[in-house]
Amino acid sequence: MTLIFWAAFAYVLGSIPFGLVIAKSGCNIDPRQDGSRNTGATNVARLCGMKYGIATLACDVLKGLLPVAFAASWVESGTALSLVALAAILGHVYSCFMGFKGGKAVATTVGAFLALSFWPALIAIVLCLAMVWLTGHVSMGSLTFALSLPVLMLLSGNFAYIPVALAVMVLLFWRHRENIRRLARGEENPWLKKD
Ligand code: G3P
Repeated sequence: MTLIFWAAFAYVLGSIPFGLVIAKSGCNIDPRQDGSRNTGATNVARLCGMKYGIATLACDVLKGLLPVAFAASWVESGTALSLVALAAILGHVYSCFMGFKGGKAVATTVGAFLALSFWPALIAIVLCLAMVWLTGHVSMGSLTFALSLPVLMLLSGNFAYIPVALAVMVLLFWRHRENIRRLARGEENPWLKKD
């Protein structure tokens, strides 16, 4: 019962489309209609500016972090807690407030894994930022983050979180399939509009 409650709470919180709300209220742009057509922080920053992107990033990280952090006092097994994390991530991708459509879930995954396993998640974030710095593409950083999560869960002995890390890795690659095609063609969007 406790797990169902926390998973439902995480899913509904994860479903809140903060990027859409922030971009619409802040700069009157629907991020689903322009740029990469994603509601995530990268596209909001691209379309509305950095401060809106940072606000979206913070909200999307928190909606992954908070339900897992709260549930940790109630849900004892690591596997059950990882299902709460997965519920928040699936909420972002298949939002009940957006007709079960949604974003790419990188920031929500960051938040959820910071709550599950702080130091390995922090290392994954550093690898992600290093890749963004090296390539200039946020999507390359996101894919690096996705790949590194199961490896870091394994190396840090967080075996209970490996199945969800693997599932999220596949999900993030699937959600980035258009980015991967653009990267292969050398046509990936810059992370900020160059005008
Ligand atoms: O987290 C999303 C990022 O990896 C790519 O965003 O807008 O360039 O598709 P975008």
